[in-house]
Amino acid sequence: MEKICILGMGYIGMPTACMLANNGYEVLGVEVNDKIIDKLNSGELHINEPDLDKIFLKAYKNKKIRISTKVEKSDVYIIAVQTPLNIQKKADLNYVMNAANMIKDFIHKGNLIILESTCPPGTTRDIVGNIIERGTLFKAGIDYFLSFCPERVLPGNIVYELVNNDRIIGGINKESAERAAKIYKSFVKGKIYLTSLEVAEFVKLAENTFRDVNVAFSNELALICEEYKINVWEVIRFANMHPRVNILNPGPGVGGHCIPVDPWFILENIDIKDTLIEKCRNINDSMPLKIVMRTVYILKDYKNPKVTIFGLSYKENVDDTRESPAFIIINELTEKGINVSAYDPMVVNFEYLLSDMEEALRDSDLLLLFVGHHKFKEISLEKIAELMRNKNIFDTRNFYDKSCVEKLGFKYYLI
Ligand SMILES: NC(=O)c1ccc[n+]([C@@H]2O[C@H](COP(=O)([O-])OP(=O)(O)OC[C@H]3O[C@@H](n4cnc5c(N)ncnc54)[C@H](O)[C@@H]3O)[C@@H](O)[C@H]2O)c1
Repeated sequence: MEKICILGMGYIGMPTACMLANNGYEVLGVEVNDKIIDKLNSGELHINEPDLDKIFLKAYKNKKIRISTKVEKSDVYIIAVQTPLNIQKKADLNYVMNAANMIKDFIHKGNLIILESTCPPGTTRDIVGNIIERGTLFKAGIDYFLSFCPERVLPGNIVYELVNNDRIIGGINKESAERAAKIYKSFVKGKIYLTSLEVAEFVKLAENTFRDVNVAFSNELALICEEYKINVWEVIRFANMHPRVNILNPGPGVGGHCIPVDPWFILENIDIKDTLIEKCRNINDSMPLKIVMRTVYILKDYKNPKVTIFGLSYKENVDDTRESPAFIIINELTEKGINVSAYDPMVVNFEYLLSDMEEALRDSDLLLLFVGHHKFKEISLEKIAELMRNKNIFDTRNFYDKSCVEKLGFKYYLI
């Protein structure tokens, strides 16, 4: 049985490890975070994703997956560590480099190395390939195989999409791509397309940048509609009835580990100035402050105002708060002397987070809906009205029904 070592037991590495462990491979999950290791080794998950517990427990009980801090000699190595932005808005590739350094001493002829982490074009060849070559004198594509296999799963539906999405797989040569495809074919039902390393790296970035640009367009429409006093949500709904138009929704900013990050990776090594991509990034980055300005305006007549934020994760129905624009909104409001409390039934461990919904809403002057978790629909508007001092709702997601809210005496503000 082939042995696969996966570095990084996060949102991508962990589900991938479980899939492979349940589909004929012996899997070693390597992690550097002790808390994650302790949890996984006691059969518990650190990530809240539908059905992930089932596939993890199956692999764990069948002893097909082990978790360790140390790499072991394997046939295949998959790197699925984080690739955040640094303060210069460049890819911080230290995690990828550390991972490559951790495996280089174990590589032997005929091994396959797969990079899954999203990265600027050229990273697999120039960074991972070079580290392995310097450590071993092995040539990629000759002595060992090198591949880039990006992930395009939707958080909140990772287990399903891991199996059913089509995949693009890049290789330093054809055999590298084919060997990687064979591994993924063990559990992927979608189509698998083979290409070069750099095309695969770029495709991943292009996909997320497309979404970022689309959201920026939508945010700009929202700002323009505000001047015209037109409801942007209605505009987008009708425009999307055109068979070739698909405008995404505006919102209070773009968060998460991918969409606000990946467009900068595209721009990282190029000379072209003044790009559409950068402008769109800046529009999306400006949204949290626009939300803050409007919030301050809504509250201008109240003394010692209190704002209750519903939802802290970067998108609805997930527990992930990475790059969530809620951080910026909370910090800015607090700096302006506004009391902020926050409630999110999906999220644990977040400054300002209150586990008690009633406490978060009590004597509040404004409910700021930041993300529309399904669970918020279970909270009755009557209950919210009862708890608040002043009945104002600022809805950044078109989540509540305006007429229902207004019937209960709320003033309703929509992005
Ligand atoms: N989360 C997503 O929805 C998603 C989707 C597509 C692509 N990606 C990309 O996949 C990559 C991983 O993302 P993620 O969301 O799983 O990140 P994550 O932060 O959830 O997981 C990364 C894990 O790697 C561990 N790690 C760091 N260095 C390590 C090392 N040297 N050895 C072993 N473990 C190490 C970290 O402790 C962490 O637990 C990123 O490049 C991301 O951009 C993520």
